[in-house]
Amino acid sequence: MTERKTHDIAVIGSGPGGYIAAIKAAQLGKSVALIDKGFLGGTCLNVGCIPTKTLLSNAAVLREVRHAAAFGIETGPITIHYQKMKERKDAVISKIRSGLEGLIKSNKVTIYRGSAQFESPKELKIVGADNLYLHAEQIIIATGSIPLDIKAFPCDHERILNSTSILDMTSLPKSLAIVGGGYIGCEFASLFAELGVKVTILEALPSILTAQGATVSTFMTKVFTGKGIEIHTNVSVQTIENRQSHVHITLSNGHTLDADLALIAVGRSIYTEGLKLEKAGLSTGARGAIEVNEQMQTAVPGIYAIGDVTGQWMLAHVASHQGIIAASHAAGHPIHAHEAAVPAVVFTSPEIATVGLTLEQAQQKGLASASQGTFPFQALGKAQANGDTEGFAQIVFDKKTGQILGALLIGHEASNLIAEMTLAIQHELTLESVLETIHAHPTMAEAWHEAAAIANETPIHLPPKAKRP
Ligand code: FAD
Ligand code: NAI
Repeated sequence: MTERKTHDIAVIGSGPGGYIAAIKAAQLGKSVALIDKGFLGGTCLNVGCIPTKTLLSNAAVLREVRHAAAFGIETGPITIHYQKMKERKDAVISKIRSGLEGLIKSNKVTIYRGSAQFESPKELKIVGADNLYLHAEQIIIATGSIPLDIKAFPCDHERILNSTSILDMTSLPKSLAIVGGGYIGCEFASLFAELGVKVTILEALPSILTAQGATVSTFMTKVFTGKGIEIHTNVSVQTIENRQSHVHITLSNGHTLDADLALIAVGRSIYTEGLKLEKAGLSTGARGAIEVNEQMQTAVPGIYAIGDVTGQWMLAHVASHQGIIAASHAAGHPIHAHEAAVPAVVFTSPEIATVGLTLEQAQQKGLASASQGTFPFQALGKAQANGDTEGFAQIVFDKKTGQILGALLIGHEASNLIAEMTLAIQHELTLESVLETIHAHPTMAEAWHEAAAIANETPIHLPPKAKRP
C-alpha cells in the first residue's frame, strides 16, 4: 500500500455525527475526508432511527385503519404483510442513503470506504475498498456504538436477536420476549404488540423507562399493560436457550418463559475497536468512552471525538450538534456547545418527549421554588377532533422567576411538539413568554399555552381547581 493523501480534516465514521461534521468543515473551507467501513449514515440511518421509525409508521397506519369505523369509514378485514413492511423499510433506507452520498459529495467532501486506524496523531491507515495512508492536521472520531451483548446469552441472530438483526426479520413471530425496557425495548414492544405479537418485557430495574422518570414509567406501564404487553420488572435473566422452535428463558427467581424469539435491548457499547487509539496517544475512560471537553477536543491536540463514542447522550441529534461544534473548532471558528436543552423522544404509541429537568431533578438541584403545570389532552379541542386524547403536556418552571426548566409530553405528535419547549429552555424563556405567544387554533401545540396557564394558576380550559393528572 503506497498511496498517500493529505486533507485538512479527516472524519472517521459517517453517522449523524460524522457526516454533519464533514459537511460543516467543508463549508468552512477545509479539505475534508470522510471515512466509513460500512454504509454511509451509520447506525442511525441503517440500523437505528430511520428503520425503526419507518416500521413504527406501519403501526400508525394500522391504528388509523382500526379506528376508521369510529370516523364513519368502514374497512374490510385487515391483513398484515410484514415482508412488505420490511421491504418498504429497506427502500426508505436505500433512498436516503443514496441521497446522503450525493449531499456529501456536493459539499466536496472526499469519501473513503474502509476501516481507519491511527498510525500517529495525524496519520491514518485506511484498509478496505480504498487502501491508503491519509495525513490530516485534525481528525474527528465519530465511530459510534454497537449493541451490547450479554455473555450469558449472546445473540445468535437466529432466535436471540439484537436491534440490528431483528430488522432483517421477514415474518412476524407469535411471541417475543424483550430483555430490557429502555428506549429500544419499549419502541419494539410498542411496534410488535400493535402488529399482534404477544410481547413480554423483562426489565432488571423496578420499572420500565426508568431514565425518563417516574411519571413516564407509571403512565407507560399502564398503557403497555392495557395493550396486552406483559411486563416483568426486577427480573434478572440467567439463560436463554435456542431450542430451534422457540427460546427457553430462565430467570434468576427460578421462573421460566418460552417465546418464539428473544430481543436483547440492554444498552449499547461504545465502539473504538480497531482504531489503534494508543498510536495516537489516546486512552479511553469509563465504559470505553473517549473523553472530550466542551469543544469536543480529546486530550491529544488536533483530535476530536463526537457522538456515541463520547458516551454522553447516545442520541443522533446530539451527535450532529457535537459534529458542528468539533468541525467549527477544527476549522478555526469555535462556537459554544448547547446542551442545556436536549430533547429526547421515545417513539412508542403514545410518544414520549422530554427536555430539560423533571420536577424531581429541579428539586434535587436545590431549586425549592420549582413547580409544574400539567394539561391533559382530554381538554384540548384538536385532540378531541383527532380522537387522540391520551396523554398530557407538562411544564416544569421556577415559581420565583417563571423560567421554564423542563417539559414532558406524552401523546400524539409529542416528538414534534417538544420543539417549542426546547427553544423556550434554550433561550431561558418564561411562562409569560409562552402565554404571550399566539398559538394557532385548533392545534395540539395549544397544549403548551394551556399548561403554562395552569402553571400560572390562570387556567382557561380547565376549571380553576380541577383535579390535574
Ligand atoms: P454511528 O451512527 O454509530 O456511526 C458510526 C459510524 O462509524 C458507522 O457507520 C461505522 O461503520 C463507522 N466506523 C466505526 N469504526 C470505524 C473505523 N475504524 N473506520 C471507519 N469507519 C468506522 N437516536 C435518536 O436520536 N433518535 C432515534 O429515534 C433513535 N433510534 C434508534 C434506534 C435504534 C434501534 C438504535 C440502535 C439507535 C437509535 N438512536 C436514535 C441512536 C442513534 O442511532 C445514535 O445516537 C447515532 O447513530 C450516533 O451517531 P454517531 O455518528 O455517533 O455514530
Ligand atoms: P437503554 O439504556 O435505553 O435501556 C436498557 C434497559 O435495559 C434499561 O432499562 C436497563 O435497566 C435494562 N437492562 C440492562 N441490563 C439488563 C439485564 N441484564 N436484564 C434486563 N434488563 C436489563 O438502552 P437501549 O434501549 O438498548 O438503547 C440504547 C441507546 O440507544 C439508548 O440509551 C438511546 O440513547 C439510544 N436510542 C434512542 C432512541 C430514541 O432516541 N428514540 C431509540 C433507540 C435507542
